[in-house]
Amino acid sequence: MMVTYIVFAILMILALAYMLRPLFRSKAQPFPESPGPEELRLELDLLKAQAKEAEGEERKRILVQAVRIERQLAELSNEKPSPGRLSPVTLGVVTLGLVALGVGLWTYTVPRLPGESIISMRNEAQELAGLLRQAEQTGTTASWLAYANKAYDLQDFERAVQGYLQVLELEPHNANAVRRIGILLFMSGRPEEGLQALELAVRAEPAVAEGWLFLGNAYFQLGQPAQAVTAWEGYLKAGGSAREQVQNLIQTARDQQTATSRGQQVYLGKCAACHGAQAQGGSGPRLRGNPINQVPEAVREIVEKGRGSMPPQQLTPEEMNALLKYLSSL
Ligand code: HEC
Repeated sequence: MMVTYIVFAILMILALAYMLRPLFRSKAQPFPESPGPEELRLELDLLKAQAKEAEGEERKRILVQAVRIERQLAELSNEKPSPGRLSPVTLGVVTLGLVALGVGLWTYTVPRLPGESIISMRNEAQELAGLLRQAEQTGTTASWLAYANKAYDLQDFERAVQGYLQVLELEPHNANAVRRIGILLFMSGRPEEGLQALELAVRAEPAVAEGWLFLGNAYFQLGQPAQAVTAWEGYLKAGGSAREQVQNLIQTARDQQTATSRGQQVYLGKCAACHGAQAQGGSGPRLRGNPINQVPEAVREIVEKGRGSMPPQQLTPEEMNALLKYLSSL
């Protein structure tokens, strides 16, 4: 018994030391750190705001500066790939997923009486431990699935993943486990991998709404609104309960699609000859992935006034807006 305590104490100290490690890092940096992405973004927002007010040469100078910062930001994110900035819509999508999850949890786990929570949490934990024991003893797919589902309902995602992986080891095509793994991948910020799993899951079990919802979310986050719409429609068809929210999402994705495809039309008509049909570059520089696209005012300036051997282009305001939206999605 004593030995257990000592080992436990040592582990605790190690864990504590590990957690506090950042505090002990040497502070003496030989050079000041280059500005982080947050600072650059702040500066960028400031510049964009200034550009709105400025005119003539001053405005040009500010826009050039803004483009330079976008390029710096792009370089920074190339160095250490970080997830792209979350757009409000993406955030909405993720939130909806969490809300759907929360509703499930509320239904199945939240105690109904005040004061019950601690006891029922302990009961839940005991039940989970019991399910794990059972799964380890019997080793059947059904028992691992019961354990994983319970952990998922309790939002104990780490245990849920372990449980579902056990299920998949026993039964690689178990749709329930594939779907949940897909959802968990999506929620942990890996939409590409989540998407593959969810595609398989909805094909195997098209009547389960949850799979369609997250499939749509993943597509949307990956910038494929058309596929997102199809998946969300699948959710409605499967009788999912968050009808209104999902209908709103579908509308948003459709709007985005129309704007983008209109912009692409303008692009193909006025720019593709020199910049390439895929914006990959031609006699004009590459525009796909070009950080300048994130400074629409700078692009507008170049398009309206021309630059070097690029002649100015005549666009209606509507065409211009659609074009800028399209470019910023590249
Ligand atoms: C006749 C060919 C031609 C057409 C048409 C054309 N461009 Fe260009 N574009 C160029 C060339 C050449 C450059 C390089 C100019 C320079 O820097 O000297 C350029 C530069 C640019 C740049 C600056 C890129 C950078 O990284 O600095 C942007 C943005 C741009 N073009 C957007 C557009 C858009 C949008 C359209 C369509 C509305 C368009 N261009 C149409 C030839 C063209």
